[in-house]
Amino acid sequence: MVDRLADKVIVITGAGSGIGAHTATICAQAGAAVVCADVDLAAAERTVASLAESGARSLAVQVDVSNASAADAMAATALEAFGKIDGLFANAGITGEGSVTSVSLADWNRVIAVNLSGVFLSCRAVLPSMVAAESGAIVATSSIGGLVGVPNIAAYAAAKGGVTGLVRQMAVDYAPSGVRVNAICPGTIPTPLVVSAYKQRDYIAGGVDEAFARAASRFPLGRVGTLDDAALLTLYLLSDESGWMTGQSLAVDGGVSTAGWQVGQ
Ligand SMILES: NC(=O)c1ccc[n+]([C@@H]2O[C@H](COP(=O)([O-])OP(=O)(O)OC[C@H]3O[C@@H](n4cnc5c(N)ncnc54)[C@H](O)[C@@H]3O)[C@@H](O)[C@H]2O)c1
Repeated sequence: MVDRLADKVIVITGAGSGIGAHTATICAQAGAAVVCADVDLAAAERTVASLAESGARSLAVQVDVSNASAADAMAATALEAFGKIDGLFANAGITGEGSVTSVSLADWNRVIAVNLSGVFLSCRAVLPSMVAAESGAIVATSSIGGLVGVPNIAAYAAAKGGVTGLVRQMAVDYAPSGVRVNAICPGTIPTPLVVSAYKQRDYIAGGVDEAFARAASRFPLGRVGTLDDAALLTLYLLSDESGWMTGQSLAVDGGVSTAGWQVGQ
């Protein structure tokens, strides 16, 4: 894995936990300097501390991605520390339970603000330096909920579907400037976010492990995802290996978006 991101500077939002934290580790192992941004500064600092153990250059930044000036400050801090931004993993996100008739307007607005506007604002913050450098790679975290119908997540699905549309649109706008934009669409990967969603769905009565075992049985490949599944696809999309790919939203989901989502999953 060494050198796949040699000399690159990667900004990761939601780097304090789950997919973002693990991708920070993978990017650092691949040779990148990593800016670990999260609304939870202590969590971002924990990720940075673990990267520092292996000698990686990294920096923790507090950001609420739904806040425009905070997103701009995140990019400015990264540029000040490392002089450039080669890649952005716009990954921060929250759960969003409820159908159109049950979700409150406040919950809808918060999920759209973090999961969709947060991607817009993070991209907007880093794009000027990428355009000036005529080079850059952006990866956003969408979801299979952005590709197929998943029950009872109206705001989340709208936000993640919005991310896939935004990725296509940005890919077209910034290709002439040498900037590529893609999205990953994970299926179920055990993280605190999914545990929180399962609790809200009453899916967890028999315990966390039992809930994930039940979920696994519904994936064609017979298991739920791992942090590596998401992080290694992201590494590829951030690296020059994917240099002729832009505008894509790629499912990493054990085949479930091909086979169809089942109620209860
Ligand atoms: N885990 C899955 O099964 C799964 C599946 C599909 C998509 N996703 C998406 O993957 C991304 C990462 O989720 P995860 O599963 O690793 O969850 P997680 O809860 O482990 O990590 C999410 C991180 O985002 C941070 N965050 C939340 N709101 C923020 C904000 N406003 N500004 C900055 N940081 C904020 C949290 O503090 C946390 O560290 C999310 O966008 C999520 O929607 C996850």
